[in-house]
Amino acid sequence: MTNFRIGLIGLGGMAQEHIRWMKAEGRFEITAVSDVTEEALLQVGEQLGITPDKRYADFARLIEDPDVDAVVSVTPNHVHADIVRACLQARKPFMAEKPFTRVFEEAVPLLERYERQPVPAMIAFTYRYTPAFRYARELVRDGKIGTVRSFSIQYLQGWGAAPNKVPYIWRFNKEITGTGTLGDLGSHMIDMARFLFGEFEALSAQLHTIIPERSDPVTGAAVRVEVDDFASFQARMTGDVMGVFQTTRNAVGSGNQHEVSIYGDTGTIHASTLNQDQLVWIREEAPGQFMRAAIDVPRHCKVTQYADFAALLEGAAPDGLPGFMDGYRNQEILDAVIRANETKAVVHL
Ligand SMILES: NC(=O)c1ccc[n+]([C@@H]2O[C@H](COP(=O)([O-])OP(=O)(O)OC[C@H]3O[C@@H](n4cnc5c(N)ncnc54)[C@H](O)[C@@H]3O)[C@@H](O)[C@H]2O)c1
Repeated sequence: MTNFRIGLIGLGGMAQEHIRWMKAEGRFEITAVSDVTEEALLQVGEQLGITPDKRYADFARLIEDPDVDAVVSVTPNHVHADIVRACLQARKPFMAEKPFTRVFEEAVPLLERYERQPVPAMIAFTYRYTPAFRYARELVRDGKIGTVRSFSIQYLQGWGAAPNKVPYIWRFNKEITGTGTLGDLGSHMIDMARFLFGEFEALSAQLHTIIPERSDPVTGAAVRVEVDDFASFQARMTGDVMGVFQTTRNAVGSGNQHEVSIYGDTGTIHASTLNQDQLVWIREEAPGQFMRAAIDVPRHCKVTQYADFAALLEGAAPDGLPGFMDGYRNQEILDAVIRANETKAVVHL
């Protein structure tokens, strides 16, 4: 089996997760790293035993490096489009973090380029690899709860809530992030709905900024927050499947709570990141008699993100792998949510 030489761009918090996942998969060797801070280059370079000549301040040099077979990009959102463009230009396969781009306008020229010259590409919609969600998809597809009529998805985190007094970091800066919790956590909810049910056809939305000012981490001065920290929307999906969505980073006590409830003609499924290896399945056992059970997720639903990335790099097309078009479409739907909020009208997709 081939081992893949990876160039890792962006060496902050989430990069450590990618490092752990690559190590666990066993088929990836990080041969080059890139970051704009010397400190991160030194620290992660030493951690991974990367020689100084393979620690790049400029990500373009890492992408061009012939000792890099594929790129993993884990930078803040304003760099996503530049890295994807450079990978397409250099014909280098990549896994890029979500959201696909900062704003939809950045995504459009990327699609044109990709259609002219595609490369193997994966967008890190990580929750497609949560076993409970993958099993829920299988049960839905096998018709185990009948025709799906509606669903709710929520993605709650608590780190941004008032008691934590989080200062004005890049995640609140519109120039860097594009949107707030919408692009951060909402992009995962949108991807989950597409993964489970198909396409968005129409939606309406409301965004809100709960904490309108945060303090500058250096000067302590108050800075206005221009992005949302609460987002809700409702959508009609293919086949008149109706869905409601809510996300916030201000849910006190929530760590990483991403949950789906799916309502079909003959049953219901509840799946959550709080219990990744089980789901709750409610079904009609006999006319008028309902059985509620916590079911263990079967082994074949425990696929990992990096097992799929390895398969992609070997030329396979794993079922459910979040590819370039999933990233592009996700960004288009994020844009529709923004427009629906601004116009207070239903947006058709
Ligand atoms: N898939 C998931 O579940 C998930 C979870 C968390 C974060 N993310 C995504 O991961 C990305 C990074 O988030 P994070 O929490 O690691 O952020 P972070 O701020 O902790 O780290 C980002 C790193 O990128 C570096 N960087 C900035 N500009 C760069 C450039 N031009 N070239 C190279 N490096 C650059 C920064 O110096 C920093 O070290 C975000 O897009 C976020 O949405 C995804």
